[in-house]
Amino acid sequence: MSERPIVSQEEMQRQREYMRQVRGLSGRPGSYHIVSMGCQMNARDSESIAGMLEEMGMVREEVRERADLILYNTCCVRENAENKALGNVIWLKELKRDKPDLMICVGGCMTQEKGMAATMKARYPFIDVIYGTHNLYRLPEYIYRRLSGGEPVVEVFDMDGEVVEGLPERRASRHSAFVNIMYGCNNFCSYCIVPYVRGRERSRDPEEILAEAARLLDGGVQEITLLGQNVNSYRGGGAEFANLLRRLDAMGVPRIRFMTSHPKDLSDELIAAYGDLEHLMPALHLPVQAGNDEILQRMNRRYTRERYLDLVRRLRAVRPDIGLTSDIIVGFPGETRNQFEDTLSLVREVRFDAAYTFVYSPRKGTRAAELPDPVSAQEKSAWIQELIALQQSISLEALSAQVGRRETVLVEGASTRDSGSLGGRTPRGHMVNFPGGAELTGRFVEVEITSAGKNTLRGRRIEEE
Ligand code: SAH
Ligand code: SF4
Ligand code: F3S
Repeated sequence: MSERPIVSQEEMQRQREYMRQVRGLSGRPGSYHIVSMGCQMNARDSESIAGMLEEMGMVREEVRERADLILYNTCCVRENAENKALGNVIWLKELKRDKPDLMICVGGCMTQEKGMAATMKARYPFIDVIYGTHNLYRLPEYIYRRLSGGEPVVEVFDMDGEVVEGLPERRASRHSAFVNIMYGCNNFCSYCIVPYVRGRERSRDPEEILAEAARLLDGGVQEITLLGQNVNSYRGGGAEFANLLRRLDAMGVPRIRFMTSHPKDLSDELIAAYGDLEHLMPALHLPVQAGNDEILQRMNRRYTRERYLDLVRRLRAVRPDIGLTSDIIVGFPGETRNQFEDTLSLVREVRFDAAYTFVYSPRKGTRAAELPDPVSAQEKSAWIQELIALQQSISLEALSAQVGRRETVLVEGASTRDSGSLGGRTPRGHMVNFPGGAELTGRFVEVEITSAGKNTLRGRRIEEE
């Protein structure tokens, strides 16, 4: 993997100048609302976008309809993600009719799809700015151009992105932070559109990552989740991923997590890190996708069922309490009932804490989209229901096994389900709800687990003497 040039300081300076100019424009949007779809990478990008919009003088507006600028950070990994984004855009047309000054920006993975920006420009001329995944840092310039009387801006770069450092940011949480370590993907799993819309792998310089972590720690962050489509391919400054983890661990980041890790290149060093890094949480998202070798091969995953199971055994040998989670695709083109049953048996064997399950969705331009796909949508839907029911029973057992334990929970905030309750995660990543006041947000508290539900645990706080 080659390292890419960092977007130049001069260019970043130019964009900062645009932010300043937008701030000074009369009649510029006063408030913004970002709709962030898709994965954590998009969530992290949205924090940078929010930072730029705030530098331009805008304030965050929680209610979308009230905002002067609405930005959609889109996802296209499955068809329903794309439909959701497009459905939203059509709805915006109505909103803009009532509110002509409303500024609409659409970017992210969907707009980066081949031909998509041009189609959107023709169909939805009311969008003010359309940009892609490689030029997010130019948003200030595009917004300035449009606000100072220019035509709607449609700009999507074909070339792979460079690495951007030094964007302003407005973090969603004060105690838990996402830190990008690499961008893009080279794996080309045959069903997946991500490599086409996010470009080739490129790593951030480890010193930049460590400096960011140090700033976050200074600001009171307790948990850092490192992000990349395949963090095992991290090669910043020639160093491998486990090395970066060691350095972060030595800095004393209280909780370290990461995602996502590809089973084909999960290294011995990384497995060893689970055995000896104090701050690396005993949790790993290791998407298996399927349990049958032929399907794995046609998915271009480059590991076998046995190799995956071996990784699981080795991880559990060094860290018996590790919580494993997974992504699984049901109904890949040509998958038979027998092959699907191999996925069921793998799930029974591994006993994931949780799994995200998806019915295969053909994505234009990917190799799998060309394969014959004889199984009906109805049948696939019956299969996925079967898988979900199996996983739910396993998740419930995994959660039930935690009852009676004493856990250190990092409090994330008020529970979304019941008021007067807090929600926080155990080291293994289980969500625990327990009675407590909001002042505990961002703190570590000791909790005794009292009962288990389908997806979450309940507990009570143990007051320290
Ligand atoms: N880089 C990560 C995941 C990125 S996409 C990884 O390799 O694990 C998140 C998940 O979406 C994938 O793990 C996969 O399970 C699912 N996915 C991707 N493309 C899909 C498609 N075309 N249809 C259904 N699910 C898909
Ligand atoms: Fe997609 Fe595979 Fe890359 Fe993950 S590793 S982003 S599933 S191509
Ligand atoms: Fe993420 Fe969706 Fe893009 S899953 S990388 S936002 S296509």
